[in-house]
Amino acid sequence: MVERIEEIEAEAKAAIEAAGSVPELEDARVSYLGRKAELTGILRGIADLPPEQRGPVGSTGNKVRKALEAMIEAKTDGLKQIELEKSLAGDRIDVTLPGTPARAVGHIHPITRTRRLIEDVMVGLGYQVMEGPEIEHDYYNFTALNHPAGHPARMLQDTFYVEHEGHVEEVLLRTHTSPMQVRAMEATPPPLFMIVPGKTYRRDSDATHSPMFHQVEGLAVGEGITLADLKGTLLAMLREIFGPDREIRMRPHFFPFTEPSVEFDVSCFHCGGSGSLDDGSRCGLCKGIGWIELGGAGMVDPNVFGFVADSGYNPDSVTGFAFGFGIERIAMLRHGVGDLRLFFDNDVRMLGQFS
Ligand code: DAH
Repeated sequence: MVERIEEIEAEAKAAIEAAGSVPELEDARVSYLGRKAELTGILRGIADLPPEQRGPVGSTGNKVRKALEAMIEAKTDGLKQIELEKSLAGDRIDVTLPGTPARAVGHIHPITRTRRLIEDVMVGLGYQVMEGPEIEHDYYNFTALNHPAGHPARMLQDTFYVEHEGHVEEVLLRTHTSPMQVRAMEATPPPLFMIVPGKTYRRDSDATHSPMFHQVEGLAVGEGITLADLKGTLLAMLREIFGPDREIRMRPHFFPFTEPSVEFDVSCFHCGGSGSLDDGSRCGLCKGIGWIELGGAGMVDPNVFGFVADSGYNPDSVTGFAFGFGIERIAMLRHGVGDLRLFFDNDVRMLGQFS
């Protein structure tokens, strides 16, 4: 019996040594020290042995059991340590490595690119670039632009008013960039050639309108400036943006702060202005019209100069023209974007196409 115990000891030691993981070691423990293990059975049956065997079997059996237990315990600690080191090494994050997949460096938003293009063209024509407040006073947004209180043209603009010192109809998010015409003239004596790109706000939202959008305002004031200068300036600007073969046309319109007022169109760059494509089908971009509507313009109304007469704008001696148009519309046309709101969803799948 003592010999059998010694055999079990040798087998068990070999199994413990061979165990390469905590579960394998646990299997060895169950096989050699568990309730159904042979050694356990021997120790449990000592009482049934002949008296002279009880001492040697008991002491050898217990000694072997203790030795195996100690061996398993030591090996468990060792294996746990190795497994911990392995998982630490596997999980290690090197924060200095680039993310996967590496993200390309971002690029300029298509609206910003379009704004810069327009600025470059106009700076080339001798205009300065100015900026104005997006939160504007009623006086600049409407009154000094010849929209007196109660003027029906105020109703055309779905305006966001801002509560200011308890009043709600004096401060607003500017509905157009035109208020900067008056601010610029207050600050700079004539001659003045400036553009104002910037954000504007109206309560509008559909495929061609968003509550926040961008406009560019232009203003040229001096002596002897005429409608022909306006037309030449718009033509030069739009040829830079849409190509050297473009033509423009002006249609009579109404704006309170210009007289006469026009809307201006550029000849369609998709069909060359004919309204139909080579295969005879109707041009989808201009809807067969041959012209694309872009913005409003006109000769500055003398009443507007009246508000800045103290800054050197005498309505009897200076004349000027103004124009305004939306930046999104230019970007949509140039890039073939069908819904203006896509510019502001900030989806990189959309914006990434304009790098
Ligand atoms: N501010 C006008 C708008 O937002 C556009 C406009 C029309 C601007 C005529 C002008 C202008 O400077 O002369 O609808």
